[in-house]
Amino acid sequence: MSANVKDFSVSNLPEAVLEEYGDKTSDPRLKEIMLSLITHLHSFVKDVKLTEEEWFTAIQFLTAVGQKCDDVRQEFILLSDTLGVSSLVDSLNNDRDGIGTENAVLGPFYVSGAPDLPMGANTVQKATANGITALVSGTVKDNEGNPVEGAVLDVWQSSSEGLYHMQDENMPKYNLCGKFTTGADGKYVFVTEKPAAYPVPVDGPVGDMLRACGRHPMRPGHLHFILTAPGHDRLVTQIFTNGDEYLDSDAVFATKTNLVGEYKECNDEELAKKYNIETPFEKVDFDFTLMVSK
Ligand code: BEZ
Ligand code: FE
Repeated sequence: MSANVKDFSVSNLPEAVLEEYGDKTSDPRLKEIMLSLITHLHSFVKDVKLTEEEWFTAIQFLTAVGQKCDDVRQEFILLSDTLGVSSLVDSLNNDRDGIGTENAVLGPFYVSGAPDLPMGANTVQKATANGITALVSGTVKDNEGNPVEGAVLDVWQSSSEGLYHMQDENMPKYNLCGKFTTGADGKYVFVTEKPAAYPVPVDGPVGDMLRACGRHPMRPGHLHFILTAPGHDRLVTQIFTNGDEYLDSDAVFATKTNLVGEYKECNDEELAKKYNIETPFEKVDFDFTLMVSK
């Protein structure tokens, strides 16, 4: 004997779907995520009264996002970034009780294996024409204010023209990158180029989405850091450039007031001599606070 036909319609969707997904898995977290996803997805479709044509446009868009992905391009992460989801996941999972330095998204331009450099070294292997020299320094502290010895700062950034080393065939690998390890005083210092604002990649479907929505693709200038130290939580963050015109409209929603570094023009000849640079240069001081691991 055949089973009774179940009637699915606007009046019992998503309830009928939720019922099907509700009790067949023994994984409670999967159940929680699926039920919430289905509830929100159906509510969205009903809310905007999605047409069949719009539904198919969405399918084609997601297909194009997938097709744009390869070993070096992750269009789905870019989609998540530009919808603010990456930043939300980052913030939700890295709450530092208002004490530790806040996280900011890793982004797609991190390449592990940057050279270990001595404190005070210059990360510029090939200077950008009209690049602005910057001296970046500060102290790595823990959440009780003690300097952290042995903290490794893995640094990468775009040039004063807004390009990362892998985006510019004229740049040597790891240009503007380096790893620095703090001594007992927790201090760090390095020379670099002041990073410029740059666009996220817009030659794919996410670029089409940004254009259709009238959004610019720019990120404010920033330095990227991964800080690791034994006994402390890992910190992935960015120092943003004060005065940048995109600080209030970051394409990937990663900016935070506490992560803005104040670059100031400096004419200190002694410092210039010590770091083998010319005056005037720009100087930015930024202290990091790492949380002691629980
Ligand atoms: C970046 O900071 O490099 C970045 C972050 C998210 C998307 C694109 C670029
Ligand atoms: Fe970046």
